[in-house]
Amino acid sequence: MDKQFERTLITTALPYANGPVHIGHLAGVYIPADIYARYLRLKGENVLLIGGSDEHGVPITLRAKKEGVTPQDIVDRYHTIIKKSFTDFGVSFDIYSRTTSETHRQVASDFFRKLYDNGEFIERTNEQYYDEEAKQFLADRYITGTCPHCGNPNAYGDQCESCGTSLSPNDLKDPKSAISGSVPVLRETKHWYLPLDKWEPFLRQWILEEHKEWKPNVYGQCKSWLDMGLQPRAVSRDLDWGIPVPVDGAEGKVLYVWFDAPIGYISNTKELLPETWETWWKDPSTRLLHFIGKDNIVFHCIVFPTMLKAEGTFNLPENVPANEFLNLEGDKISTSRNWAVWLHEYLEELPGKQDVLRYVLTANAPETKDNDFTWKDFQARNNNELVAILGNFVNRAFVLTSKYFDNKVPELGELTEYDKQTLNDFVNVKADVERLLDTFHFRDAQKEAMNLARIGNKYLADTEPWKLAKTDMNRVGTILNIALQITANLAIAFEPFLPFSMEKLNEMLNVKPLGWNRLGETNLLPAGHQLGKAELLFEKIDDAVIEAQIQKLLDTKKENEAANYKANPIKETIEYGDFEKLDIRVGTVIECIKVPKADKLLQLRIDDGLEKRIIVSGIAQHYKPEELIGKQVCFIANLAPRKLKGIVSEGMILSAENNDGSLKVIMPEQAVKPGSEVK
Ligand code: 2FM
Ligand code: ZN
Repeated sequence: MDKQFERTLITTALPYANGPVHIGHLAGVYIPADIYARYLRLKGENVLLIGGSDEHGVPITLRAKKEGVTPQDIVDRYHTIIKKSFTDFGVSFDIYSRTTSETHRQVASDFFRKLYDNGEFIERTNEQYYDEEAKQFLADRYITGTCPHCGNPNAYGDQCESCGTSLSPNDLKDPKSAISGSVPVLRETKHWYLPLDKWEPFLRQWILEEHKEWKPNVYGQCKSWLDMGLQPRAVSRDLDWGIPVPVDGAEGKVLYVWFDAPIGYISNTKELLPETWETWWKDPSTRLLHFIGKDNIVFHCIVFPTMLKAEGTFNLPENVPANEFLNLEGDKISTSRNWAVWLHEYLEELPGKQDVLRYVLTANAPETKDNDFTWKDFQARNNNELVAILGNFVNRAFVLTSKYFDNKVPELGELTEYDKQTLNDFVNVKADVERLLDTFHFRDAQKEAMNLARIGNKYLADTEPWKLAKTDMNRVGTILNIALQITANLAIAFEPFLPFSMEKLNEMLNVKPLGWNRLGETNLLPAGHQLGKAELLFEKIDDAVIEAQIQKLLDTKKENEAANYKANPIKETIEYGDFEKLDIRVGTVIECIKVPKADKLLQLRIDDGLEKRIIVSGIAQHYKPEELIGKQVCFIANLAPRKLKGIVSEGMILSAENNDGSLKVIMPEQAVKPGSEVK
């Protein structure tokens, strides 16, 4: 038996306020959360939708430095833009606040202090790199140097992108500060750690045993984190931007951004409801849900729940319906490469088309796997679904009623078998849509709503009331009555998905929002009810509009390629003799497996014509092992063997790197004998 809750608190990941928001944000987090919140409100449930900007963290300070402004200037600028985009797209937040608010500073500070006083942290003093020129400690990502494993000179302090090995800054040879370029020095510094390892048995029980119903992508990621074993996590940083650590002797230290950000959900609730916020966070009859993207799973399923549990008085999330990522025209969305459809630009270029984007993003939502947004699909879904199915049906129902019945709902006469069957069909829509929404299957739920419009279209096409107008007006009246009841049902079913258009439809129907619970009723509009003025709900989008958007992306691609070329110019000229030293050969992949505890590494066994050699390659995020078995690859055969994650690698697989960082292994155009030289 499912637990019964009295209210639902929905949180949405707080976006970083160092850039505007794009379609990936909307598709992954804010549209599904908004659909869900609207659905519950329509059902008359008690619900809050909480949002806000995440305004701390190192990238914001670096951006400010680069622009010669303060971090506050940066977050003020983007908080305003982001908040407006969400309002413009109808995301129905009860509050959209920010982590630089005074309430948040207080709540986050008190939260830390309570854990500190209860002895929930451990303190550790470590040596950490310090930039004497910039006068600051360096986050791992802001130290570069030479990878001790593969010799890549541009490895980061947390990871070498070339061989995929996880690093700590002290592993790097010749470390450099990414901020000033100077050589950093090691200095001792103390930090507070949340001992996640201590909570591991609790987390295993709570997630793996008690929340088997979580989405497979979420459950799976949690399981793999737990199976790898949890480590204490530092919750403070040496930085001058953030919430000061509220402990004596912690000058120059702030709360780690991932410690304060989720507490933002609590602060924003408190800012909205200063008197009753605790009911929403502590009363066990409140259901807490976090809507997030997949990169945030560990923080919302493991770290934040541990913080809440350690604090002791808060509820834990009931569910975390995280989504995968949305790509754009086949490439990863990227802020730095400007590979995105920015929400504020979309509305300037396609004004009034909020619902079209909402519809397309839900129809293509990355619920179970990464999905792709393409402008052609956007156009097709608008023209073939919103216009041709939903808009067309509603328009026909209105036009015919205006023509034959003076824009009043006609009487329902005697029903044929077909009428009864149609009414029956749409009565079932409510249960279907509810079942899907209740389990966070938004794309299928929207599909079901569209099926109702399909039922309507088919009904009008089959009964052809326009042909009966001369002979049987009673029959025409019955048909249009049924068509209008379907239309009123559509206004309910689509409200969570297409709020702007359904507001318009309610005006056209001359009704107040009818409420979810009436979905499926066949007499929503009484005979004689006066309808309002009909308008078109959706319009066709021409090829020229789509081509302009595609051209814009092609221009971005060109700019990126030029910038990429500039950043990676052709290296110094070498003599033929230098080239001759390289022994590049073709080999056949006989075996391929993932290297345990290394996200990026694959271990391949290669038939090189003479023997079977092992090569470890950093391509695990680009290929599944089974995609490579049996394929021929090019590799450097005379590279000195080196150890990667304890495995001796005898050579290097050659691959080409795309602009978006994806790797494609170089393969001969036709099969050749293993061991063939590449010249
Ligand atoms: O990944 C992000 O964009 C983070 N700013 C999300 C924070 S979610 C929550 F913890 F606030
Ligand atoms: Zn490396």
